[in-house]
Amino acid sequence: MSPDVPFYDLAALHATMRGELDAALARVVTRGWFILGEEVEQFEAAFARYTGARHCVTVGNGLDALVLSLRALGIGAGDEVIVPGATFIATWLAVSAVGATPVPVDVDPGDRTMDVGAAASAVTSRTRAIVPVHLYGHPADMCALRALAERHGLALVEDAAQAHGAAQGGVRCGALGTAAAWSFYPGKNLGALGDGGAVTTDDDALAHRLRTLRNYGSRQRYVHEVAGVNSRLDEVQAAVLRAKLPRLDAWNTARGAIAARYAEGLAGSELALPRVRDDATHAWHLYVVECDDRDGLRDRLARRGVECHVHYPRAPHQQGAYREAASGIPPLPVSERLAATALSLPLSPTLTASQVDRVIDAVRAEAGHLAHA
Ligand SMILES: Cc1ncc(COP(=O)(O)O)c(C=O)c1O
Repeated sequence: MSPDVPFYDLAALHATMRGELDAALARVVTRGWFILGEEVEQFEAAFARYTGARHCVTVGNGLDALVLSLRALGIGAGDEVIVPGATFIATWLAVSAVGATPVPVDVDPGDRTMDVGAAASAVTSRTRAIVPVHLYGHPADMCALRALAERHGLALVEDAAQAHGAAQGGVRCGALGTAAAWSFYPGKNLGALGDGGAVTTDDDALAHRLRTLRNYGSRQRYVHEVAGVNSRLDEVQAAVLRAKLPRLDAWNTARGAIAARYAEGLAGSELALPRVRDDATHAWHLYVVECDDRDGLRDRLARRGVECHVHYPRAPHQQGAYREAASGIPPLPVSERLAATALSLPLSPTLTASQVDRVIDAVRAEAGHLAHA
């Protein structure tokens, strides 16, 4: 049975622009050119403009955007890269993929992004880069992290996979570090109809290396300067993203209005609600509350027709992939607590006010019940 309030309703979102999506798909099929063509070129120009960065280089997915950014920066074996303890595992996997070591630091309990003081303490002579994550759409404190990176001569790579449209001090994510890695996974604020990713940067040489790396290490047919990979956004996905980009700000405004309604309706409840730093523009990719009996609350809400998800039930260092490294990792209490208590409430731009109120009523009833059980 489908829930009364779905977590994220992509079919409903796409129904609001079905004609434009059909036209975008038809344009590519009619043109008959599918890899590295006009759609990719136009989308890269439009997304660079949107973020305020000089360059946008599209790639196959968000993980590749991170991996290729690190490779293009020359980061590899023997290097350390500072990452947050609370993130989707891709942030860590990218560091591991280039042969470097992810050095995790905890996150701030308020905005849930990288704790700048902890990052400063984690810098060693082997540190080459910091990869903060704009978790749930809240920008990390890039001003403070940029100062730290500059002080130690480190690269600063934004993991912006959840932050399309987020900003700090009015400057959009994507133009706040050395480079920013984006995902266009379908469920993101700006999502394709399949996998997709991009890197934005102001650095001309870095952009050139990324264009080479993503296409078999080649800028000229059958001339391969480096051992690159095949990681390209295809023309179909680029055409879809071109059609969606002009709507992103309106979707984010709708997300923000839902978040504001949640904040008002859930104030004073048993749950810890998201907090927003004063200089931050939140993209509201996810609205994440914290509850001691998180799994119990999720099940009770499901029975009331409200679909919630957990992002993420284990921190990366609690995963099998990092079992061997785990013994050398210091405690990350905030990240671990988030993994145990985080619950993401429904957040689609297409949710109606009455659906949002339905969520609020259900959460208030069930959270209170849990607290007093
Ligand atoms: C924080 C973060 N980093 C990286 C990624 C990787 O993106 P993708 O799924 O497109 O590879 C994701 C999304 O899945 C993410 O949420």
